[in-house]
Amino acid sequence: MRSNGKKLQAIWRITEQLRTSDQLEDALSNGLEIISDEVGSEEGSLWLKNEDEKRLCAIVNVGSTSIAGISIAYGQGIAGSVAVDGTSVIVEDCTKDERFSSSVDEETGFKTKSLICVPIKNEGETLGCIQLVNKRDGGLFCDEDLALCEDFASIIAIALEERGYSLIPQTKKTPIISLKNVTKEYKSGDGVLKVLKGIDLDIYENEFLVVLGESGCGKSTMLNIIGGMDTLTDGTVTIDGADFSHPSDQDLTDYRRNYIGFIFQSYNLMPNLTAKENIEFIAEISKDPMKAEDALDKVGLLSRADNFPSQMSGGQQQRVSIARAIAKRPRLILADEPTAALDFQTGQEVLKVIEDIVKKEGTTVVMITHNVEIAKMANRVIKLKSGKVSSIRTNSHPLTAAELSW
Ligand SMILES: Nc1ncnc2c1ncn2[C@@H]1O[C@H](COP(=O)(O)OP(=O)(O)OP(=O)(O)O)[C@@H](O)[C@H]1O
Ligand SMILES: [Mg+2]
Repeated sequence: MRSNGKKLQAIWRITEQLRTSDQLEDALSNGLEIISDEVGSEEGSLWLKNEDEKRLCAIVNVGSTSIAGISIAYGQGIAGSVAVDGTSVIVEDCTKDERFSSSVDEETGFKTKSLICVPIKNEGETLGCIQLVNKRDGGLFCDEDLALCEDFASIIAIALEERGYSLIPQTKKTPIISLKNVTKEYKSGDGVLKVLKGIDLDIYENEFLVVLGESGCGKSTMLNIIGGMDTLTDGTVTIDGADFSHPSDQDLTDYRRNYIGFIFQSYNLMPNLTAKENIEFIAEISKDPMKAEDALDKVGLLSRADNFPSQMSGGQQQRVSIARAIAKRPRLILADEPTAALDFQTGQEVLKVIEDIVKKEGTTVVMITHNVEIAKMANRVIKLKSGKVSSIRTNSHPLTAAELSW
């Protein structure tokens, strides 16, 4: 039996590594080395899922066989199945176990006798797995090794979330909007209030990005800067690769009219115009608008075209405001707590409409919410804390609006 003190020491060393290494890959590699030493394995590897290609990628490894850069299909081999179904596997003796397939050995170059493989799980979501192969002393892995490895994997999961490791290899994608070291200060009395303290954020085509964070942390300020409704103090904003940090008034107007659609918590509909007229009113000033009827149809409210806002429920009014935003055919929709004023059912209807906009229209949506349940719909979730991005998480299996409950 391993002593508890020894285990705590190892946990402490791993945590230190994960917190202090500049490069996450270095941290993971050092952490994995400690795990491998502790469990006494010959080889160890850490794999993360790449949802885009449905493959599991070897990120770092320890031991003599270099496998970093290798990827295997979901479901392939033990690692491939652990990463998909999220349950640990121990194969004490590979020669006698049908779960082990020697084709993986061929691919990775391992000669596997005994192995354990545990999922790296964060809030129920499996991000990847850690696999340890062959005992240094020639023995077989046991359940105690497995339990230890599971504990270590939980620490790795926290570190991945904390350090905002993104599982989609985003180097392959070009962001449509990039914020680099964006700051925002307001004068307050004699001093300055620093609201954004250096935000770095890339927004990709056709993603559903949810922004979480405590009240006052700067979410709306960031969204307003992205939407050209507020100016930054320092840093850069790039739109489709071009610098947009200090645009001219004309560029800013064009950008707000054609590129961006806004949805707010309050619907901001004109009370004396019908649903259809509210949409036409905004669509008229944009370049290539949809017909108001088409926009209303997309939010399921065609039959309400001639109703005034006062004749509609809150959820319906919000859907009209979404129709108004999409009628401009914007690249990006910015939504600031669009369901905060709605009850569960109408909120869910509104989210369903937003989901369709992303999936059917291909629009990118950035949505602020206080509701962590809603964040489960996102492709990525970013958390802000006191004016900085504290984490970025990729949801490998976003839920549909219909699957949410709160
Ligand atoms: N125009 C302004 N002038 C001065 N201070 C401002 C201004 N706009 C926002 N602030 C301050 O900036 C901070 C961040 O505000 P922001 O509205 O971005 O927060 P938030 O994260 O959206 O909060 P909430 O969840 O409550 O909407 C707050 O302290 C707010 O008072
Ligand atoms: Mg706000």
